[in-house]
Amino acid sequence: MASITIRNLDGAIKEKLRLRAAAHGRSMEEEVRLVLGELGDPLPSPSWGGTERSDGEGSFLTLHKDPSLLLRSLPPHEGEGKGSALSGRRILLIIGAGIAAYKCLDLIRRLRERGAQVRPVLTKAAEEFVTPLAVGALAADKVFTELFSREDEHDVGHIRLSREADLIVVAPATADLMAKMATGLANDLASAILLATDKRVLIAPAMNPRMWGHPATKRNRAMLEKDGIRFVGPNKGEMAESGESGDGRMAEPLEIVGAIEKLLDRSPKPLTGKTIVMTSGPTHEPIDPVRYIANRSSGKQGHAIAAALARLGATVRLVSGPVTIPDPEDVAVIHVSTAREMRDAVEQLLPADAAIMVAAVADWRTANEAGEKIKKKPGEKAPVLQMIENPDILAGVGHSKSRPRLVIGFAAETQDLLANAQRKLDKKGADWIVANDVSHATGVMGGDRNAVRIVTRSGVEEWPDMSKEKVAERLAAKIAAALQTVEV
Ligand code: CTP
Repeated sequence: MASITIRNLDGAIKEKLRLRAAAHGRSMEEEVRLVLGELGDPLPSPSWGGTERSDGEGSFLTLHKDPSLLLRSLPPHEGEGKGSALSGRRILLIIGAGIAAYKCLDLIRRLRERGAQVRPVLTKAAEEFVTPLAVGALAADKVFTELFSREDEHDVGHIRLSREADLIVVAPATADLMAKMATGLANDLASAILLATDKRVLIAPAMNPRMWGHPATKRNRAMLEKDGIRFVGPNKGEMAESGESGDGRMAEPLEIVGAIEKLLDRSPKPLTGKTIVMTSGPTHEPIDPVRYIANRSSGKQGHAIAAALARLGATVRLVSGPVTIPDPEDVAVIHVSTAREMRDAVEQLLPADAAIMVAAVADWRTANEAGEKIKKKPGEKAPVLQMIENPDILAGVGHSKSRPRLVIGFAAETQDLLANAQRKLDKKGADWIVANDVSHATGVMGGDRNAVRIVTRSGVEEWPDMSKEKVAERLAAKIAAALQTVEV
């Protein structure tokens, strides 16, 4: 048996190794393996595997005679994991005994692709659903199963397992595991870890819909939520058992990854404590009960801005017209249909630190909405719609007594972009107008890209063509910077 102790390496080499490992989104141990592999070192040899242990102060790499461990030395794919919120983060994954356990193999892969280190724990019964060999191979780590394992040289104990993790994830979280967690039982490794931990815990429940709906599970769930346990799913859908469907399907691996990323997100939150009111999407102005006047706005740009602001920590209240895209994450959404409903909702949401009016509000509505469907009558001329002007929501906010510190409007133009945008600054009482050319050829309306100009009283900033998500991120950063200054 050969071993290398990273702790004993020269400080400068250790630092280089740390930087190189971080850049590749790998652990230091994995990086050592690759470096040695490049040198043609026999470690790991074709018939000998490597695994790593951490004693809390330094890590060491040990070779031993378990062929299954050879698979564990697989590094994450080249280039993957860089820049991810999960890069270098340590996730203790407790796999419960449910049919959904098979999805954990994909979950482990997805987490490792993003640079996370996954240390798996299998409950005894979970071994009936997935093998420790498959789990260990994908996780590139030892699989822990026993609370007390005298003969296991890698036994590190439940306290250390939890101490060394950044987050504990339970997937699938069975009704039994939830009950143990809620009552504080600790009669196996998984439940002992969960009771001993002071780390955040995310669980992905999976069970038969009747078990999920049982009063006992409901009680346990309420108790766990009170204890600060985070949930992802379960979803509605088909069960593995034939003919069963309902609430109880485990969240999909990528949903679980998303929830983990959110919990481990360490990015700065410069908009924490700031409230931002927004509008997005089109409005529908009814003609009669079946017909309405609409426009081509998809809501993509406004919704992306709302999500980007929420990611920076803002409390975002979004008033959305009728759109077919999902509500942005972590944003409180009020769904409306007409311009007047949108105006009323916005007024209710003031005061705020900023208002961003992205909606393509219909300028006019019909003067007399018909109560019944307008019928064609033989020999009669086509009906003439009489229109009246809708309230200007942005101007109302921009000139109101409870005007937010920062008011931003959009200008969708097909000609004289800058001149029209500049006129709107004063007309609407806005600080910035985000101007974009929505001529048919640009494909902006309903499309995924945008080329905008930020028009302020001190000048014009021209941004290159980019995805609506990128525009949203850049605008959110600009808003954060503006709200941090004393005067906008
Ligand atoms: N806006 C609004 N309420 C309206 C019309 C527009 O709040 N009734 C807002 C939009 O959300 C956008 C800005 O005003 O932020 C400019 O919208 P736009 O349609 O470009 O301008 P209009 O004022 O409608 O002027 P025009 O259509 O004549 O260009």
